[in-house]
Amino acid sequence: MTEQLTIAMPKGRIFREAANLLRRAGYRLPPEFEDSRKLIIEVEDEQFRFILAKPMDVATYVEHGVADLGIAGKDVLLEEERDVYELLDLKISSCYLAVAGLPDAKINEVAPKVATKYPNVATAYFREQGEQVEIITLNGSIELAPLVGLADRIVDIVSTGRTLKENGLVEMEHIAPVTSRLIVNPVSYRIKDAGISGIVRALTEVMD
Ligand code: PRP
Repeated sequence: MTEQLTIAMPKGRIFREAANLLRRAGYRLPPEFEDSRKLIIEVEDEQFRFILAKPMDVATYVEHGVADLGIAGKDVLLEEERDVYELLDLKISSCYLAVAGLPDAKINEVAPKVATKYPNVATAYFREQGEQVEIITLNGSIELAPLVGLADRIVDIVSTGRTLKENGLVEMEHIAPVTSRLIVNPVSYRIKDAGISGIVRALTEVMD
């Protein structure tokens, strides 16, 4: 009998794509999997226990070892720099991190304000550019900040580009591409090697 694996899944928009990928890889997840409000879902047939976390928190559960594996966006991994291994680029939920703002805004010359939910990514990016900025950390609806004068620019995820467009914002700089990754706790990787390798193999086959 194989050992049970705990997998931290990101609630929200990545969840459906991640569940589809697992199904394509041959794992039998119950039909109500995507619609449930439960935060822990046991799939006994597969010896999986899923825990449903906020996307930003997935790597935290994996780092602390309460989940063996997790599916996390590269944006979160860049921001959090958790002590986890990245095993696979799942090539789902593709988007990118970018700098955006109002097209004709007069940028504050001295330390322009940048709103973001990725303060570490934004700080590193502007430091590399040799630009001094003031970072304002928000938890969501980042596009609002330049519209109401809270910030000169934003650093955020662009997926379809619809949110920028509908709010009259334009993309100014491309920072980094983002896809979802399969991450693993370093200790689990050693002691649950057989089960984890099986998942990696099954996912790799359907991705190709
Ligand atoms: C994300 C991101 C952008 C938007 C981009 O926000 O922060 O706001 O999606 O997607 P688009 O290019 O397809 O419009 P999300 O909806 O996850 O919520 P949030 O604003 O609360 O972060």
